[in-house]
Amino acid sequence: MGFPSLEELSGWIGLSDAEAVRALHARAYAEKTAVIGRRVSMRGLIEAGNVCAKDCRYCGIRASNRNLTRYQLTQEEIVASARFAAESGYGSVVIQSGEIESEAHTRFIEEVLRAIAPLKLGVTLSLGEQTEEVYRRWRDAGATRYLLRIETSNPALYAALHPAICSFDRRVECLRALRRCGYQVGTGVMAGLPGQTLEDLARDIAFFRDIDADMIGMGPYIPHPDTPLAAEASGWSAEAALRLGLNMIAATRLALRDVNIAAATALQALDPLGREKGLLAGANVVMPNVTDAKYRAQYKLYANKPCLDENAALCRGCLQRRIESIGETVLWGVPGDSAHFFARTRPGM
Ligand code: 5AD
Ligand code: FES
Repeated sequence: MGFPSLEELSGWIGLSDAEAVRALHARAYAEKTAVIGRRVSMRGLIEAGNVCAKDCRYCGIRASNRNLTRYQLTQEEIVASARFAAESGYGSVVIQSGEIESEAHTRFIEEVLRAIAPLKLGVTLSLGEQTEEVYRRWRDAGATRYLLRIETSNPALYAALHPAICSFDRRVECLRALRRCGYQVGTGVMAGLPGQTLEDLARDIAFFRDIDADMIGMGPYIPHPDTPLAAEASGWSAEAALRLGLNMIAATRLALRDVNIAAATALQALDPLGREKGLLAGANVVMPNVTDAKYRAQYKLYANKPCLDENAALCRGCLQRRIESIGETVLWGVPGDSAHFFARTRPGM
């Protein structure tokens, strides 16, 4: 099968009839099983800090939100979380935080990366827009993957969701810079944004192809009460956003085949079985939170964030049971690299 047309993609994404949705997800799951096997990779998610210089209109940790306590984990705390992830057999971690551009922050992350190197984990960073030089320094210090969601590939919608200082073009340029630095590059979008159309979502998948993404992280948009977007927007219902989020996973798996796709935690915020449904719609990565529970409530990007008071060890057993309950096997202790990355970087390709 060649790359589906935009009409085909938006047709899939917009399905709402229960039987048709089931058939779409089953096809995508069969594709995932054929390309990747009945295997799920784990990433321990470390929410390293909620200090953010940006003011995205949908995001709970935006700079103007005074309704939360800002925190930054110390190097020791991050290393402890990474060690916990390694001991839990997760094989890789994602270090995520609000967006900060400064030499002190760049150096702090370099030191963290060097400190966790002996753990031999796959390391993904999700630290927003930075200069190519910063991306290179973090790559040299041991990070191998980077997640930077484009949020929406529609420049007009992007402009409506972000303050004027944010540039869609710069974000795309950051994704290109990450490629040049040799990262496995992840991007993604939110589904069900106010004003977003099925065609926008279809074009998002074409964007993933054009940028040649190795990893995709997508989830439903969930209004956060302390944000301007929640106050003004009437858009898709929560039920529709959940359905769009799952259909996007399925359509992306069918279109892009060998990329890593995460079953985002935001799915679980809208449905207790959201992550399992994401896996059954074609996702192959789950990101259990390994941040010390005392900080988790301060890292709320959206409302109803799940697992706020779980201690991370309990989550491990719970997740393993959940994954095995749908007939999948957890890949313990391996970095879980993107098959697409190896296909595109193989000598002779
Ligand atoms: N609902 C869903 N996802 C959100 N994110 C930020 N705010 C929200 C929200 N209100 C997502 C963005 C960002 C990622 C870290 O979290 O896509 O890239
Ligand atoms: Fe959160 Fe288990 S994964 S409670």
